[in-house]
Amino acid sequence: MKIVCLLGSPRSKGNSSTLAKRLCERAKELGAKIQMIQLNKLTYRGCQACMACKTKSDKCILKDDLESVLESVRGADVLVMASPIYYGEVASQLKAFIDRTYSFLASDYVTNPHPSRLSPGKKLVFILTQGQPDDRQFDDVFPRYDSFFKWYGFEESYLIRACGVMDIGDVEAHREAMLSTAETAEKVMESR
Ligand SMILES: Cc1cc2nc3c(=O)[nH]c(=O)nc-3n(C[C@H](O)[C@H](O)[C@H](O)COP(=O)(O)O)c2cc1C
Repeated sequence: MKIVCLLGSPRSKGNSSTLAKRLCERAKELGAKIQMIQLNKLTYRGCQACMACKTKSDKCILKDDLESVLESVRGADVLVMASPIYYGEVASQLKAFIDRTYSFLASDYVTNPHPSRLSPGKKLVFILTQGQPDDRQFDDVFPRYDSFFKWYGFEESYLIRACGVMDIGDVEAHREAMLSTAETAEKVMESR
């Protein structure tokens, strides 16, 4: 079981990264192979809408640090995407990656009943942290991305969310989110 874990926060020891690392540690104990990538350390652009991935290649043709990340996700069984909420959205570091996954869609994705270029059966774990304690705020973020990733074939998906966590370390006191990292790792690993 190969897990690719994308850390979208610029804070390597921040709240979302803490949750992601805990999940990966538990999955590793259960036998997973983990590739953790801190997106903020990479250099890349968002999608350029060149349409090359729809006209002349089945991959994104941009040559930057996301090239190998996209390739790793193609080979993964599980994708973990962790991000803080910035202005009601995922952080731009993760958003740029998500836009580049446009290359996962076949040229004829609009009409094709199997629009994804990815092998089926992949799983998604989304980890979101926000300063706002009201969990109704920004609760649209996961369902929106989940539906796009379902389109890619990530049929099984999980959300771990911590609200009301602002500073580095705050998430340690968020019992529910901390506990759900191990539970989610176990679920992802059990349904192989
Ligand atoms: C630029 C910026 C924008 C933010 N926007 C929001 C926001 O819209 N809503 C919110 O609840 N928290 C917001 N926050 C707070 C972060 O979501 C919160 O501190 C989160 O736990 C950070 O996660 P991290 O430690 O993984 O980076 C923002 C923080 C920054 C730096």
